[in-house]
Amino acid sequence: TSVIATALLLAGLSGAAQADCDDGEMVIKFSHVTNTDKHPKGIAASLLQKRVNEEMNGVACMEVFPNSVLYDDDKVLEAMLNGDVQMAAPSLSKFETFTKKYRIFDLPFMFKNIDSVDAFQNSEAGQSMLNSMNKRGLQGLGFWHNGMKQISANKPLELPGDAAGLKFRVQPSDVLVAQFDALKASPQKMAFSEVYGALQTGVVDGQENTWSNVYGQKFFEVQDGTTESNHGVLDYLVVTGSDWWEGLDAPVRDQLATILKEVTETRNAESTRVNEEAKAAIIAAGGVVRELTDEQRAAWVEVLKPVWEQFEGDVGADMIEAAQSFN
Ligand code: LMR
Repeated sequence: TSVIATALLLAGLSGAAQADCDDGEMVIKFSHVTNTDKHPKGIAASLLQKRVNEEMNGVACMEVFPNSVLYDDDKVLEAMLNGDVQMAAPSLSKFETFTKKYRIFDLPFMFKNIDSVDAFQNSEAGQSMLNSMNKRGLQGLGFWHNGMKQISANKPLELPGDAAGLKFRVQPSDVLVAQFDALKASPQKMAFSEVYGALQTGVVDGQENTWSNVYGQKFFEVQDGTTESNHGVLDYLVVTGSDWWEGLDAPVRDQLATILKEVTETRNAESTRVNEEAKAAIIAAGGVVRELTDEQRAAWVEVLKPVWEQFEGDVGADMIEAAQSFN
């Protein structure tokens, strides 16, 4: 057990799922920001850890640090380049200082549902994006699904005009800033771990996220309600350092890649169900969920879709066309 892991355990931080690594095993630290058992990413990371530690026993040992106990997403990529952590799965909105190509995933109403996202990611165009940050020292290993984003605030949101004048937390993505600018709202970039407190104290009025994050972080407790807008996607890149990855012995790298591929397929197939369960749990806990009529939804599309034009140069018209072909 590492010093950090011991310190976390002594500090009584819950949810950390470190393994006891044996002498001689290569330690793979995996840092993320969500819970471990009711979240598409958390469950996937836990399964990855379990399989690596069973099947690569004696060779490799994975320690998962969930719930932002080790790093927030704004620090984790830097830590990876410094060799302090070997794997992470930040949302695709968090790579903007490394590549502008991932902005396509943040464009509102780009994808109809997670199946379209899946098909695009698995296409040649999507797979080429795994290597788009190699020059910056990062290697994408695969895409993990969370799901479609919903929008919430401290007042009902039914038409886009309802968001005007409100402050919204956004992930650190200029596309998401532009999205809330289009709504005449005030976007504020903020780390995931700070959102609940910011909503509670009124630092921001609203936020956008998936059902599993709204449930896992209890945002519904400090919001008027959540509108089922499905207006965007929140997915992850499982990422590692290029040097670290290339430095592995080929058999070790191959086994790790195979386990990761299998975990990715298994858990991506379950991500929608995990989010549906979170939505049901929100309702069961007294949270309000609002559905949009077709007319209301059309009004959101009309206001938000023009945001695409601002970023077409970054993501490429060909990539937009490829993405659209899977809807
Ligand atoms: C967020 O910052 O809202 C999400 O990216 C958190 C996560 O990892 O799901």
